Amino acid sequence: MQTRLTEILGVEHPVMLAGMGGVSYATVVTAVSEAGGFGCLGASTMSHETMVREIADVRSSTDKPFGVDLLTAMPGSMVAQVEAIIEGGATVFVAGLGVPAEVVELCHANGVLVVNMCGKVDHARRALDAGCDMVVAQGTEAGGHTGTVATMPLVPQIVDAVGEQIPVVAAGGLFDGRGLAAALALGADGVWMGTRFIATPEARSVIGYKEAMLAAGEDGTVVSKAFSGKTMRVLRNDTTRFYEEHPNELTPFPEQLGISMNGGFFHLGGDEHTPGVDPAREGYPTGQGVGAIDALIPAGDLVRQIVAEAEGVLASLSRYAGR
Ligand SMILES: Cc1cc2nc3c(=O)[nH]c(=O)nc-3n(C[C@H](O)[C@H](O)[C@H](O)COP(=O)(O)O)c2cc1C
Repeated sequence: MQTRLTEILGVEHPVMLAGMGGVSYATVVTAVSEAGGFGCLGASTMSHETMVREIADVRSSTDKPFGVDLLTAMPGSMVAQVEAIIEGGATVFVAGLGVPAEVVELCHANGVLVVNMCGKVDHARRALDAGCDMVVAQGTEAGGHTGTVATMPLVPQIVDAVGEQIPVVAAGGLFDGRGLAAALALGADGVWMGTRFIATPEARSVIGYKEAMLAAGEDGTVVSKAFSGKTMRVLRNDTTRFYEEHPNELTPFPEQLGISMNGGFFHLGGDEHTPGVDPAREGYPTGQGVGAIDALIPAGDLVRQIVAEAEGVLASLSRYAGR
């Protein structure tokens, strides 16, 4: 299935693994890229040294293209991080929470594409103006930091605003081949999936995360500022309920991130050996597609399954096309 996205990325399938902080480490990134999708490291929760090591791990495990995602709004030097991304051999830099205007030229001078996460049409226009090579249109259904506009209305409006100039990738609540087919129907060039890929054996996670996802229904998530001070979709639990009842105790980003980490209820970036994780209080970023997930599936199989299902859906829809 070739689209503008597969062309620009140099991959086989228009399926991108979201660069999820705490989850998208080298193992799952390699598995997705090896399967012909596009793996993206979620480096927002990594130290500089860890990011460099994870990039090297991917590079030594696959010859296929991969990317690295960082949050523009995080304190620290984005230029130094982007230099390490370039040096490590990634082909794409993805920026969440803000347009990464100061590193676009640096990336382009080194043959690295720049992608911007967008929750509104205006974000996409600003990304285009700043020289970004494509945008991810992420609807509110998404796990992690998220806006208020849903995927279904957001994607075609972003396509209308910038889709003639640059590829648009759909995200938020998409978890299978039907979602990929729907994204293409809305004018997107592919999908960027997060939540579905957490439920793979290769994804990194703290204790209780995958189990809580398998148990959750489609209404098991809530948008809360409890874990970072910015609106984040997570599994509903005792912590989200506490802050719903005590909103005055919330502090702004990034202070609230310090409070959740030091308070022992957010360990994103940890793994199954990280001590002190209480599933009733822990922040587990998750999208609304979670209700459809009832098994862990190897990430490479997932990529192939999503594409095969989308091809079947698109073929069967042709019966509505008339003669
Ligand atoms: C655990 C988790 C961590 C995330 N971390 C980041 C991040 O660090 N940077 C970013 O741009 N997006 C992040 N996101 C958002 C994803 O990139 C993606 O847009 C989202 O997962 C798509 O929606 P879905 O979860 O419904 O598939 C995160 C999402 C999750 C679930």
